[in-house]
Amino acid sequence: MAIIGKDIQYAATLLKEGSLVAIPTETVYGLAANALDAEAVTKIFSAKQRPHFDPLIVHVSSFEKVSDYVSEIYPHAIKLAKEFWPGPLTILLPKKSIIPDLVTSGLDRVGVRCPDHPLTLSLLQQLTFPVAAPSANPFGYVSPTSAQHVQDQLGEKIPYILDGGNCKVGIESTIIGWENDQPVLYRLGGISQEAIEKITGPVKRIMHSTSQPQAPGQLTSHYAPGKKFLLGNIESLMKENAGKKAGVLSFGKGNIQNDYHLNLSENGNLEEAARNLFSMLRKFDSMNVDLVIAEEVPEEGLGKAINDRLRRAAATPQ
Ligand code: TXA
Ligand code: MG
Repeated sequence: MAIIGKDIQYAATLLKEGSLVAIPTETVYGLAANALDAEAVTKIFSAKQRPHFDPLIVHVSSFEKVSDYVSEIYPHAIKLAKEFWPGPLTILLPKKSIIPDLVTSGLDRVGVRCPDHPLTLSLLQQLTFPVAAPSANPFGYVSPTSAQHVQDQLGEKIPYILDGGNCKVGIESTIIGWENDQPVLYRLGGISQEAIEKITGPVKRIMHSTSQPQAPGQLTSHYAPGKKFLLGNIESLMKENAGKKAGVLSFGKGNIQNDYHLNLSENGNLEEAARNLFSMLRKFDSMNVDLVIAEEVPEEGLGKAINDRLRRAAATPQ
């Protein structure tokens, strides 16, 4: 099992040696390695059983560092970073050769992000290199939002988990890039589309693409919980599955009579729902239920990112 602790020095020592360390961020826990050391980065792919075509996000301690790793920073990228960093926004920019091809899966762009978590920021400030970090879960499974989640699934494969408590955003970062000067969202996440568009104007969304994994976070069944997951009208789905032991995941007020019921946010608060989403999906996995019935949340602000995860969970073949 991994050691769980708050020792930033120890985490830094391990990373300098080329080892993996799980790190807290405001979105989800990451599985970090020295981004400039291809050998260290290889360990990430093995531990997660992640295919090499799925590129990694590079985490930096501040916007000033970005120019060390990318050859061009577009004016909109500067504005976005000023507005949202440190925070849940990953920006794709043309990479410099100092970033190993393994990190970007051979693509010309690298995703950079400055995470908003005091322990990880302080860790990054002590390092002379940035860290590559995907979410710290086996490939295809739900992302971890606590140190224990990481321990449960990857504890055998890593020496240390830096414990920063529960993630305060709870869903992954939003990913933006540009194609012929047109801003494109490749993944909806902790910063809403509306908030981005205030700065960039209308964005194109490329989502749910399985044929062209520009950001394989978009692979349709990427947030696979362990149980059959049905999305729709809770009441009708409960009727249709009356003979089965079903868990129910709801949002907002409502009168649901079920022994295995979790509510993303009784007050109908989308931030709270995002924070709860992945830990609740994990809870159902350990509950004695055959399937999970859930409903979509309002398609606005963070709700779009939450619905995206719910739809992918529902798209997973069981
Ligand atoms: O919030 C987050 O972004 C978390 C924390 C740990 O920072 N990280 C995260 O990493 O969610 P991961 O690897 O689970 O998802 C990152 C997504 C992947 O789907 C990957 O394909 C996409 O970002 N991505 C990374 N670099 C890319 C690149 N150069 N071009 C296109 N997509 C990229
Ligand atoms: Mg992931």
